[in-house]
Amino acid sequence: MQLHERVALITGAASGIGKATAKLFAREGARVIVADLDEANGRKVTTDIAAEGGTAEFIRCDVANIADARSAVALAIGKWDRLDILYNNAAPTRLCNEHDRAVHELDEAVWDTMINVALKGAFLMAKAALPTMMAQMRGVILNTATVDALIAEPGVDSYTAAKGGIIALTRSMALNYAKYGIRVNTISPGYVITECQMDWYNDPVARSAAEATHLTRLGQPEDIAELALFLASDKSAFITGSNIVIDGGFTAFKSQASGGDFFRT
Ligand SMILES: NC(=O)c1ccc[n+]([C@@H]2O[C@H](COP(=O)([O-])OP(=O)(O)OC[C@H]3O[C@@H](n4cnc5c(N)ncnc54)[C@H](O)[C@@H]3O)[C@@H](O)[C@H]2O)c1
Repeated sequence: MQLHERVALITGAASGIGKATAKLFAREGARVIVADLDEANGRKVTTDIAAEGGTAEFIRCDVANIADARSAVALAIGKWDRLDILYNNAAPTRLCNEHDRAVHELDEAVWDTMINVALKGAFLMAKAALPTMMAQMRGVILNTATVDALIAEPGVDSYTAAKGGIIALTRSMALNYAKYGIRVNTISPGYVITECQMDWYNDPVARSAAEATHLTRLGQPEDIAELALFLASDKSAFITGSNIVIDGGFTAFKSQASGGDFFRT
């Protein structure tokens, strides 16, 4: 098992990518803290993990709140006396879908919430986790951006700004904490079929347009979980400060960069 007895704290683990990762990490021997605002679904993830013979604890945690961040880290240490992996995965995806806009029509409160959760949340969780990881002289922090931070997605300007910040923060953190044996990397997924993507996914026109821009297929949460496992495990010991894109070829596709009308034949 790749994460035997490692302790992993995963934010936003009640749903989607975080949920798939919590389950995979537990199967690989990790003891997992499922940290999320969504108590019902978060507890269900821990029950599912226990039913498979794994170990997980739920904590209600708002990543934008330093007291909650500290409580989540304290739970890991109280239970298992260490924290090996922090996966900053939570983001206000519903807010992004429903209320994000281009700058001139973007509500300031939406901007503030997006930055507070998707960017500052990763900072606060890392701030809470780092003293333990530094004392251990060992740790892995995974942050979450998106392909939208690399090529423009019109009309979701607070989301892309927060995620762009994540990529920059990852690089500076990697430099700062390498001497403590702590690796910091970003995962940038393309389109992954999770709850927050269901509105357009269920629309055949939008779905086939999205499928046409991928070289392979749209992503599944388990695709991202496998990358997170690799980056959290010792197999990626030489990778830090990187932004790893996992998008089925989306950003390699010519029309994404050119805005042109190139289609696969
Ligand atoms: N699904 C995609 O296509 C896609 C693409 C690129 C990047 N991402 C990123 O991957 C991550 C996971 O996305 P997903 O599709 O699994 O989303 P999701 O909506 O399925 O899950 C997000 C989870 O985060 C939790 N959450 C929201 N705000 C929170 C807060 N303040 N504190 C704690 N938990 C909070 C939600 O309750 C939910 O359980 C996000 O960072 C997202 O931006 C997703």
